Amino acid sequence: MDELRKQIEQATGTIRRKWNHQARIGLILGTGLGRIVEQIEQAAEFPFESLPHFCQSTATGHIGKLVCGQVKNVNLIAMQGRFHFYEGYTLQQITFPVRVMKAMGIDLLIVTSASGGMDPAHRPGQLIVIDDHINLMGDNPLAGFNDEQLGPRFPDMSQPYDADLIETALRLARERNIPAQRGVYVGVKGPNYETRAEYRFFRTIGGDVVGMSTVPETLVAVHAGLRVLGLSTVTNVCLPDALEPTTGEDVIEVASRAADNMAVVIEGIIEEEARRLQANPLP
Ligand code: HPA
Repeated sequence: MDELRKQIEQATGTIRRKWNHQARIGLILGTGLGRIVEQIEQAAEFPFESLPHFCQSTATGHIGKLVCGQVKNVNLIAMQGRFHFYEGYTLQQITFPVRVMKAMGIDLLIVTSASGGMDPAHRPGQLIVIDDHINLMGDNPLAGFNDEQLGPRFPDMSQPYDADLIETALRLARERNIPAQRGVYVGVKGPNYETRAEYRFFRTIGGDVVGMSTVPETLVAVHAGLRVLGLSTVTNVCLPDALEPTTGEDVIEVASRAADNMAVVIEGIIEEEARRLQANPLP
């Protein structure tokens, strides 16, 4: 059997010994968003270092564990903390948990993040529902040998983020008076925040927000046939002609303050999925 599939089986084997359920939704929680995990009931927790082939998260503001359980009677798996390209891992290592969540049964992946907002209308703390991305990481997690059993060699990327889920997320935010707009996410390697010239460039090429995650996980999720919802909190507004310095602490602070809004939208999405699953039960 192919090496990657063997590794996925080893990781799912470890999870299933403690939590043997079919998951429906996968959740990747970015900077400051770990508190969403508090809503998970009957949770089984797995520190990343206890799972075969997982790397350990070193980023500030990220606790590294996988939490399996239920929210609104829907089985889900949440990554509290994630891995980043700037930590020195390969994109294949970073996205391994997505493969594992897919093998555990999910068909929807919700990817959250913090990002710099480049639209003059952006405000710190506002929510971006990602409707497309530009991969400027200089690498691709799908490069190299392709296992056809995991996905196609040349995956289509004409609509990586699910159009219905984008509309639903925007509606949920609107109904709850949460400032939100759709946007194009530019994915970069980091770890530095951008120069004025870089922000100007990213805006010029069609970007609305820029961040150091989301793109690799989404590429692998689409390759694996998953629906993807990408939610990002604008933590710093990056207008090249009026740029203020940004620190990692600022980003965590704003993301944590906005976490409740993100949690409300995610809860709404889970409720909608619960309804969908009730209408289409497992065969
Ligand atoms: N650039 C890149 N990543 C980020 C930013 C930014 O300005 N803010 C939060 N994550």
